[in-house]
Amino acid sequence: MSSRKKVLFITSNAHKVQEIQELVAAESRAITIEHLDYNCPELQLDTVEEVARESATYIRDRIAIKQPFFLEDSGLHIPALNGFPGPFSAFVFRTIGNEGILRLMAGQTGEDRTATFKTAVAYCESRTATPLLFVGTVKGRIAETARGTNGFGYDPLFEFRGKTFAEMSREEKNKRSHRSRAFMKFLTHIT
Ligand code: IMP
Repeated sequence: MSSRKKVLFITSNAHKVQEIQELVAAESRAITIEHLDYNCPELQLDTVEEVARESATYIRDRIAIKQPFFLEDSGLHIPALNGFPGPFSAFVFRTIGNEGILRLMAGQTGEDRTATFKTAVAYCESRTATPLLFVGTVKGRIAETARGTNGFGYDPLFEFRGKTFAEMSREEKNKRSHRSRAFMKFLTHIT
């Protein structure tokens, strides 16, 4: 009998699934990630940690999922904009997009262009468990223009050591990203 642990990743974002599957393959851990394509209602709370925790609680209490599951919420935090868009990153991306962020950042230079990407993974071991949180962050800067064609979302804007995430392969992004940092903490916990 296989001793591989099976965990369900609940997200409607195929890019996130690809990143996580590639990470697990690279780490060769005894775990299989299954995917449930489900879009949790978008909760507007003050932090990505709260959004992840409440989304996991919502799913745990309303959807008949028997196996352990996790989901994640991510946000781009720009100190020059007082942390905006933060937990509202999905809404902001849909409405003003990368162009809108660049407009808001017009005139900001040097340190004022710093930004942090954050992911909170929420893991529910059972129907009665309180979700456990695993947080990962990466500090970078907002590029002057959108660059690169890989990845998704804010990747063309988020520059890390001279390259935007959209200019990196998935493997390169996975070596540094907020998502991989949060997910690796989670992997260490469950394997
Ligand atoms: P959510 O975690 O799916 O709610 O993501 C919030 C917003 O941030 C969405 O617009 C995503 O496209 C964007 N986003 C989340 N993770 C990333 C990432 O790794 N790179 C770029 N954008 C991201």
